Amino acid sequence: MLLVVTPNPALDVTYTVPVLRPHTTHRVGAVAARAGGKGVNVARVLTALGHEALSVLPLGGATGAAVAADLAAAGLPHRAVPIAGDTRRTVAVADPSDATLFNEPGPAISPAEWRALACAVETALPAAGGVLVLSGSLPPGCPEDAYAELVALARGRGAVTVLDADGPALTAALAAGPSVVKPNAAELRAATGIADVPAAAAELRRRGAGAVVASLGPGGLYALTPTGAWRCAPPETATGNPTGAGDAAVAALAAGLLTGSDWPDLLSEAVALSAAAVLAPLAGDFDRTAHRRFRKAAGAVPVGI
Ligand SMILES: Nc1ncnc2c1ncn2[C@@H]1O[C@H](COP(=O)(O)OP(=O)(O)OP(=O)(O)O)[C@@H](O)[C@H]1O
Ligand SMILES: [Mg+2]
Repeated sequence: MLLVVTPNPALDVTYTVPVLRPHTTHRVGAVAARAGGKGVNVARVLTALGHEALSVLPLGGATGAAVAADLAAAGLPHRAVPIAGDTRRTVAVADPSDATLFNEPGPAISPAEWRALACAVETALPAAGGVLVLSGSLPPGCPEDAYAELVALARGRGAVTVLDADGPALTAALAAGPSVVKPNAAELRAATGIADVPAAAAELRRRGAGAVVASLGPGGLYALTPTGAWRCAPPETATGNPTGAGDAAVAALAAGLLTGSDWPDLLSEAVALSAAAVLAPLAGDFDRTAHRRFRKAAGAVPVGI
């Protein structure tokens, strides 16, 4: 089993419209709502791969109840920590050419609620199979070093951590020594001020990350690890919805750490799975046929450090 923490989950609402025109009234053709947030997407992908992934997340209000109901309906095991605030929504307005996103910031978390979440993680860790995934933004009110605390907790229990965060949530966690961090190119540059990917990855390792797996959109992955560096490009550029591709990459990394894959294998799988996720319309899903095809074709290439 893996443990996945989503500190700022959401009910992802998608409105489908024939065409989006700002400052006009739209008739919404279809409305879809499902549990979201980056960690929830990771847990969905892990579950679809046949892994047991337990989500720990704060939920509150009517929207929190809707998220919990959707998780249950989707067969995603979760431990909800009750909060006073109402869980946020994200709204995506999708027309045939693209989507426009509106992301609420999320309810503030009180210090007591944060403590309860950290306790829930601590309680669930022993059964977690040694892998803890920490994914997405921190809600308002959460201490900046919240992820640092959970990374330290996991290390103390001998568990490895995969961290997907940006800004202060990422940089404050580095000193605690996350096993793997997965910034995208913009997040890597923002965290380091360095445009060169290998140099920026080296800087994150210098600050405490065990391995840095940088995702470069259609360019694939660059990984700098304690045992070497690799690049892995997707076998082909996929056209579709790239939102959530990074979450699929995180799921592959976490699954590979659980099963003890070596780095080239782990990266090839992450590239194949994330490219297959681009082909699926919703974040948290991937195209199974494409995944198998990409998996045969993807290969990580060692690069000099
Ligand atoms: N168009 C594409 N074709 C093939 N693979 C892609 C494409 N876009 C992304 N990928 C794969 O998905 C991985 C993650 O993409 P990206 O770097 O955009 O992540 P991200 O910005 O963290 O995404 P998100 O946070 O929305 O999940 C890439 O490393 C790559 O392997
Ligand atoms: Mg991302």
